[in-house]
Amino acid sequence: MPTSPSAQGARAAVVCGLGAWLPPRAVDNDELASRIDTSDDWIRTRTGIRTRHFVSPGMPTSRLATEAGARALESAGLDSVDAVVLATTTPDRPCPATAPLVAHRLGLTGRPAFDVSAVCTGFLYALATAAALITSGAAEHILVIGADAFSTIVDPEERSTAVVFGDGAGAVVLRAGGAAEPGAVGRVELGADGSLADLITVRAGGSETRSTDVPPSRADAHFSMAGQEVFFHAVTRMAGASRTAIADAGWRAEEVDRLVGHQANARILHAVGERLDIPRDRIVIHLDRVGNTAAASIPLALAHAQSTGGLGAGDRVVLSAFGGGATWGATALTWPDLKTA
Ligand code: COA
Repeated sequence: MPTSPSAQGARAAVVCGLGAWLPPRAVDNDELASRIDTSDDWIRTRTGIRTRHFVSPGMPTSRLATEAGARALESAGLDSVDAVVLATTTPDRPCPATAPLVAHRLGLTGRPAFDVSAVCTGFLYALATAAALITSGAAEHILVIGADAFSTIVDPEERSTAVVFGDGAGAVVLRAGGAAEPGAVGRVELGADGSLADLITVRAGGSETRSTDVPPSRADAHFSMAGQEVFFHAVTRMAGASRTAIADAGWRAEEVDRLVGHQANARILHAVGERLDIPRDRIVIHLDRVGNTAAASIPLALAHAQSTGGLGAGDRVVLSAFGGGATWGATALTWPDLKTA
């Protein structure tokens, strides 16, 4: 029997499609240890990462985003949406945004398409933006993609960052629906603190350095991260935002079936779980296979969990992330019955 609109609750954005794509080139810890001063043991015990995928030469972020976006549209059974929102820190070019090109390649020329930049929190910022466009009535269907190719911005010789990141893309399709439906995205708790901008950064390449004639140093031209400080802020902010999202959903922590946190470090996810009283067997770990894929990490983890039985219809799910900016966010949703493409 069809459900009446009032039984479905207020207008909300509902997840109705999910897709993911990894570039074919897999790089395991031993391969990295063969060219830089590190070891499989150090990487596994400090981060939980075993392998990751890197783009091959000439493969830009738009390729990753297009592949994941096409799979999410297929999973939703749609060939058109009203807008494309792409979260990325590694756009194809500094100008223009990458989303219009991705939309064009998906046959969506003419639809609004724009990038969102919030580093590893990017997917949640993009999800919040798209959900707001739907709840406002501006759109019925939106494709939200998180795609990053951090192997193009880390210094391959710098062991503290070179071992941590991987490339990939994940995407969801949102449709207009009701807040009581499975898949309805709850309020997205977001935050930012620009006083921490130097903790995760690529110093050169933007207007700050281009407005001078000084050529950048090798360190400034590449990604840098103050690992231990970031670790502390990531645990604090992800736990705080998740707590708010769980309370907004009207749940108790013990009712959460799956914590799908940004996949930076297994130790961070375990520490967040401990603060929230969410046991380890409810924490989705995907970083062992892909590393930290930045804006792609949450939708990639969702797609992997769904395709391997780690996430099922009706599960109460919390999404949570921390990233450069600094930025952070979390939201809660009851997982819908989806086809994975
Ligand atoms: N292999 C071997 N040794 C390494 C190494 C590597 N790849 N990288 C660093 N080391 C060494 C350091 O040189 C240091 O040596 P020292 O004690 O002789 O000076 C030691 O290991 C510890 O370095 P440190 O940076 O303190 O390691 P860590 O335990 O903090 O782990 C990270 C580093 C990056 C894995 C960890 O800090 C982290 O995950 N941070 C948060 C990342 C995050 O949340 N990102 C989210 C937003 S992107």
